Amino acid sequence: MQDRKANSANSDTSEFSRMIDAALSRRQFIKGSMSAGIAGFFATNPLSQAMAAKSPKLNFEPVAATTADTITLPAGYQWDVVVRWGDPLFKDAPSFDPSGKATGTSQTLQFGDNTDGMSLFPLGENRAILAINNEYTNYDLLFHHGGKDLTKDDVLKAQHAHGVSVVEVEKQGGQWKPVVDSRFNRRIHVNSEMEMTGPAAGHRHLKTDADPTGKKVMGTFNNCANGETPWGTYLTCEENFHGYFGTESDHKETADELRYGVKTRNKHYNWHLHDARFDFAKNPNEPHRHGWVVEIDPMDPTSRPKKRTALGRFKHENAALYVNQDGHVVVYLGDDERGEHLYKFISKGKYNPNNQGANRNLLEEGTLYVARFSMNPGQLAGSGEWLELTHGKNGLTKANGFADQAEVLIFTRRAATQVGATTMDRPEWVAIHPSGKQVYCTLTNNKHRGVKEGQPVGGPNPRKANHYGQIVRWQPAKGDHTSHTFSWDLFVLAGNPVVHRDLYGGSNNIDADNMFNSPDGIGFDAAGTLWIQTDGNYSNEGDFIGMGNNQMLAANPETGEIKRFMVGPKGCEVTGLAFSPDMKSMFVGIQHPGEKSTGSHWPDGGNSKPRSTVIVISKQDGGLINS
Ligand code: FEO
Ligand code: CA
Ligand code: CA
Ligand code: CA
Repeated sequence: MQDRKANSANSDTSEFSRMIDAALSRRQFIKGSMSAGIAGFFATNPLSQAMAAKSPKLNFEPVAATTADTITLPAGYQWDVVVRWGDPLFKDAPSFDPSGKATGTSQTLQFGDNTDGMSLFPLGENRAILAINNEYTNYDLLFHHGGKDLTKDDVLKAQHAHGVSVVEVEKQGGQWKPVVDSRFNRRIHVNSEMEMTGPAAGHRHLKTDADPTGKKVMGTFNNCANGETPWGTYLTCEENFHGYFGTESDHKETADELRYGVKTRNKHYNWHLHDARFDFAKNPNEPHRHGWVVEIDPMDPTSRPKKRTALGRFKHENAALYVNQDGHVVVYLGDDERGEHLYKFISKGKYNPNNQGANRNLLEEGTLYVARFSMNPGQLAGSGEWLELTHGKNGLTKANGFADQAEVLIFTRRAATQVGATTMDRPEWVAIHPSGKQVYCTLTNNKHRGVKEGQPVGGPNPRKANHYGQIVRWQPAKGDHTSHTFSWDLFVLAGNPVVHRDLYGGSNNIDADNMFNSPDGIGFDAAGTLWIQTDGNYSNEGDFIGMGNNQMLAANPETGEIKRFMVGPKGCEVTGLAFSPDMKSMFVGIQHPGEKSTGSHWPDGGNSKPRSTVIVISKQDGGLINS
């Protein structure tokens, strides 16, 4: 056991320790073989103690797990629909057609499908621009034929259901609704023109017959989570781009194609059947033009989105941006795949708060790093370092297969392996505490951990065949986000303490009342409460019994306390989070209710088709969220 006093950060620490001790004894956390290492980790970890300032209380009665086909909230809270898949954004848009026979053109005028990460850009007290990702689409809901008889227009409709929706929202009569035909409204999709920027722009690996410059690319898709900049732009992150490329030829994949999951046998979306751009045997460089972070100016509907190659190419989850004390812009980035990595970008230039126009290209140039964590067995805390991904350094040389910096960025995953990065349990969202002291990342699950070669059990990935997930957090050395070293611990190990009494039962802040699996979306509110959204197994059976549908929880980062705040409808994932500036409205995304024939009719009830939907949550008394 470490000496708590030796790690005391301030006078609140002893009070904090008393709270932890009380919490621990209340829960009587005693579990299996590694229990000593885990049971104490909140009480003794120096990171917790350094954070021990004012705790953000969780001021609501938690809700029970449920499999109900609705939104379940604590007493005193209410929810309302803001915008659903297929809702018109323009006055000439048709209304949603649930038959599955709507056209590709209609979908360009409507809100996209499968809502994900979002940011709110305020225009006034009761008006804002919502920039929001439409990650993908479910063919069994999109088409009357379920995708079996795909026509050219069907492919267009699917492509137009993807991308980003920019929509003005306004609070009218106490309810947030889209402003149809607002001059800000815009659909960005698979066929929208955008620009490649940064070190890889124009590289030979990015040139295609349609674009011999390697600088003009059409579209963005599988936009998962997001980020936003202090200069007012939206960052959308391209995640599972590989699944859209296919071929009918007997093409033998290259090692780089396989590393990114681009496979000849991909037959899920079948865009290549009607759009040769997605036949990667014919257009081997087209996949290189996807898997980036894209910067969008939501205030200017005519602006061209910019793909920022300096931030690397992988299956980007989100982009958590922080302006460091010295003005450098730091962006933390997860690559959501079993055994892939966690990254950090540091801008070359510095943020200028007095000249926002000068900040516009800060993400064009900088240095990318990848994380290596200490791996001491049985320890759920340790140290780590950021390894630089710059051509000519750390073995990133021509002899090792990297001709130049563009190749380091286009094949970022291979570069990360070359420098010895830690393989992670699927890094999803990263969130930075408002104080800037700590950074949190969800590691959603990983059935390959301890099973596949190169994915050893240990460090922040402590469980073999991890089907519950965890949240790791780290603290940059001296509070400087440009530092090359950090210390880390686990904030929570999700698990099921009813079924398991070992590490799979979860950490000491998990009990039968708040258990969940597969943390994914996370974000802090201004008061420092951590909100956790899940994308997990909603069978409510076996290892997942008692967890119910996917959900959203709130956590106190200082004490580790976690309470369930919301449960979503059947078959959904809860993903995407934004607050109004007055903290009275919380926007939450409900993605794919009713997927896999789970029988949802949410949000419209009756026999209606389930629809991906953005909701807004508020207090019935008009107070602040969590007040
Ligand atoms: Fe689209 Fe990793 O979630
Ligand atoms: Ca996600
Ligand atoms: Ca996920
Ligand atoms: Ca999803």
